[in-house]
Amino acid sequence: MKIVLPEPQRDGRLSLEQCLARRRSIRHFSRKPIALRQVSQLLWAAQGITSPSGYRTAPSAGALYPLEMYAAAGLVEDLSAGVYHYRPRDHALVLIRQGDVRPVLTESALGQSAVNFGAATLAIAAVFERTTGKYGRRGRQYVHLDAGHAAQNICLQATALGLGTVPIGAFHDDMVAKTLHLPGDQVPLYLLPVGMP
Ligand SMILES: Cc1cc2nc3c(=O)[nH]c(=O)nc-3n(C[C@H](O)[C@H](O)[C@H](O)COP(=O)(O)O)c2cc1C
Repeated sequence: MKIVLPEPQRDGRLSLEQCLARRRSIRHFSRKPIALRQVSQLLWAAQGITSPSGYRTAPSAGALYPLEMYAAAGLVEDLSAGVYHYRPRDHALVLIRQGDVRPVLTESALGQSAVNFGAATLAIAAVFERTTGKYGRRGRQYVHLDAGHAAQNICLQATALGLGTVPIGAFHDDMVAKTLHLPGDQVPLYLLPVGMP
């Protein structure tokens, strides 16, 4: 099932400087749902396409784009609980599995409650071969740098939307991969639970 996302905003109320000054890792969320347009905006900030040539919101070594974005939705208005894959080319989500996986994702992340109580958790996964195929061993470093750019975009976009998030690197890769139903060539790099502070 494909869900075409609301068109992302190219403007906002907070300046970049205000977002930089306000951004903080937020680990406690209210139980309020977030809106589908907010999920749309966060995914666009992470990996949205911003040029007819396919260039994206975040830089990528060699423009090889090794990252794949997922959203594990729990409390998102107009989006059933489930795991979704983001398709930058058509700015759409594809349902991967139904149901609220936040509790099991929390277990995978050493019990970090932010994952349980975030309305949704965005996950950044990578296909290392896309980048190592060109750059060899150094490509591994580049993929991690790519992920940092995308994650920071999410952090700043969340701040601009009045949402909270925290970038989480402490988790069991194999458990996260299984929960998100990642294809065999994808490795999870980052989890970012998002919610209303
Ligand atoms: C690579 C990386 C991994 C992180 N992993 C976690 C994590 O697993 N759990 C967590 O609560 N915060 C995690 N953080 C967030 C840091 O704890 C946080 O950025 C730091 O305390 C500074 O606070 P600030 O983000 O509010 O400025 C991580 C940050 C980075 C950059």
